[in-house]
Amino acid sequence: MDLETYIRALPKAELHLHIEGSLEPEMMFALAQRNGVTLPWSSVEATRAAYAFSDLQSFLDLYYAGAAALIHEQDFYELAMAYFTRAHADGVVHAELFFDPQTHTERGVAFETVLDGLERACDEARVQYGISSRLILCFLRHLSEDDGFATLEQAMLHLSRIHGVGLDSSEKGHPPSKFARLFKQCRDLGLHIVAHAGEEGPPAYIIEALDLLKVERIDHGVRAAEDPALVERLVREQIPLTVCPLSNIKLCVFPTLQGHNLKQLLDAGLKVTINSDDPAYFGGYIGQNFLATAEALHLSRAELKRIARNSLEASFVGDAERTPWLARLDALPED
Ligand code: HPA
Ligand code: ZN
Repeated sequence: MDLETYIRALPKAELHLHIEGSLEPEMMFALAQRNGVTLPWSSVEATRAAYAFSDLQSFLDLYYAGAAALIHEQDFYELAMAYFTRAHADGVVHAELFFDPQTHTERGVAFETVLDGLERACDEARVQYGISSRLILCFLRHLSEDDGFATLEQAMLHLSRIHGVGLDSSEKGHPPSKFARLFKQCRDLGLHIVAHAGEEGPPAYIIEALDLLKVERIDHGVRAAEDPALVERLVREQIPLTVCPLSNIKLCVFPTLQGHNLKQLLDAGLKVTINSDDPAYFGGYIGQNFLATAEALHLSRAELKRIARNSLEASFVGDAERTPWLARLDALPED
């Protein structure tokens, strides 16, 4: 089996995927035309050419501009179906999708429009591809905690359809401590908890996410490596990291993939997973993230299998769903 085929054959979960970040320029333009929305770019090609980022914020500015093409329930449905089609082709058996309601409600799109469209796609993906999925609502950390509370109030009308909450957008200057009360309420509601931390922000933000938000996984977390005591804690508590290698290169967190610390984290005993983050913007879906990382860091098949296992174990599904995937994974050779 060649490496690409092997990676595709690994049953894997994608745990760090912003559904708005899977909006390909072709769909962005088609939806903008259909909806009468004017985009800041003249063509699909000009849009792709603008995807040269210097840091997280330079990406977010474009990401929020592109999301303006999404207006109707059908748009969110088509967006998520396109993602599921790609994920299925890459051997994803389970996906936990982040969505950013505030990006849409701020523009006058109803919370329910977003949720209905995404959920319809999740149902359809189960039937068409056998992919299981969950939705995780992300709060935008550049907005206030009160804004987050207002969003949670809307979400509370649909709690059975939302599996967890996360924290995304501009990290620097917006530490997890800003949202301690909001996440306390989310925990009290029985929601699963994750947060972006240690992508651009310091290790102290990862510690805050653990201690104040009580996260079950850290999204990114690669800067944990700068704090040996924190690494030791993450290993001891087996806190999963949802690492996104191609994202980290595009946003200049590491200068090259060869210089990425994923293997160093894995060797230290951390529960590392590989994910795509915003695949339409960062040049690859989960399969491409696995392949490019495996080649750049010379990961063995045993290591790739370990990373896929980590993703299944770190997912928020019950054992009844997880066990058959693990059995399929165990049946794969390691050489
Ligand atoms: N980091 C923070 N916020 C985001 C990201 C990311 O990588 N992608 C979409 N929103
Ligand atoms: Zn992310």
